[in-house]
Amino acid sequence: MGLSRNRSWNLLLLLFTGLWKPFSGIEMCSGIVENYEAAMVLSAAGDALGYNNGKWEFCKKGSEIHAALAELGGVGNIDVKNWIVSDDTVMHIATAEALVKAGKNIEPSNLYPLLAEKYKECMDDMEDRAPGRTCVDNAYLLNPTTPDGWMIPFQNSAGGCGAAMRAMCIGLRFSRPEQLDDLIRISVESGRMTHHHPTGYLGSLVAALFTSYAINRKPPHEWGKELMDVLPLVKDYVIDAGRDVPQNLDTWSYFEEQWNSYLKERGILNGTSQPKFPEKYDVKERDQFYTSVSYSGWGGSSGHDAPMIAYDAILGSGDNWTELSHRAFFHGGDSDSTAAIAGAWFGSMYGFKGVPKANYKKLEYRDRLEKLGKDLYHLA
Ligand code: AR6
Ligand code: MG
Repeated sequence: MGLSRNRSWNLLLLLFTGLWKPFSGIEMCSGIVENYEAAMVLSAAGDALGYNNGKWEFCKKGSEIHAALAELGGVGNIDVKNWIVSDDTVMHIATAEALVKAGKNIEPSNLYPLLAEKYKECMDDMEDRAPGRTCVDNAYLLNPTTPDGWMIPFQNSAGGCGAAMRAMCIGLRFSRPEQLDDLIRISVESGRMTHHHPTGYLGSLVAALFTSYAINRKPPHEWGKELMDVLPLVKDYVIDAGRDVPQNLDTWSYFEEQWNSYLKERGILNGTSQPKFPEKYDVKERDQFYTSVSYSGWGGSSGHDAPMIAYDAILGSGDNWTELSHRAFFHGGDSDSTAAIAGAWFGSMYGFKGVPKANYKKLEYRDRLEKLGKDLYHLA
């Protein structure tokens, strides 16, 4: 884990210049166990709702989804009993199980083969769950039993959201400020086990980082600016790690530029102002905006815009689950992934408060998710 002198110095600077100031006093504690459970369970609930057995993830019109939702009587009326979770949750469980199995031994030689093993193994549970092409193809390349078998080469096409959608639990496990270095290292390396492209694995970084902020109740309007401050540290890590460095640096800027421009548009690049939304920002306008931030026209399907849309929804919904669902779960883009990420952030901050029981009581894998939440809490 050896930090370079440059990176240790940057990390110290961040700690002392107040990046982590909301962690002082009572907020020092990393949430309570219910928030950990809610983060895992509500991420999966969001996934199941946004996926709707494949019908809604791939529906390109938010207006059609909202019309169908109204016919069902609104989100509060949906019993998820027969709404299976998609690949997002299966892979999120895989990440969490590897973290729990590793326990306190988070050395690369122990943790990384465990992650690779879980990513490979979870591919046996993908029937009807619509896994992403990059996840599937690259999970099969992993070879957990050989020393460097968890590494795959750089790929230009690996900028999808498959690394982001499964990384929230890393922020639960490494939620304390002094664990930032581990959060960076592990979110990047687990991300690039299938998505060795900055747009892909920086999605994993932001999903984990914002979960750590959420569990510590840092106000959401501050998160974006802090991401921009953390990105240089991540770049230093990638350079130090020394794998395919020229390709990683050549393709680095897209993620950073997209986030910079988003934060500017919402007026929160300074980390102090409250977000500004357009006067009319309903289903149609949101679909247009989500498309406008996307890589190839499908909002939320890449590593930069899945967490961005989830963040946009968190900023606009406060502690209102129904509003969050309208913005993050039910839209014309890659709705199950934006939902899985937003659900984890909501649960981290607000627990199950105001969430209709029908949305998670009979959720597939609920027991497993709750137990992982508890285990991560005890490890953190
Ligand atoms: N930069 C940005 N986006 C890119 C890049 C790039 N360099 N290359 C490809 N994309 P896919 P995944 C976009 O299908 O990441 C499940 O259904 C590309 O436009 O390989 O393995 C989940 O619910 C494409 O649309 O998926 C998620 O929806 C997108 O990356 C999905 O699979 C997704 O790439 C995530 O898994
Ligand atoms: Mg999915």
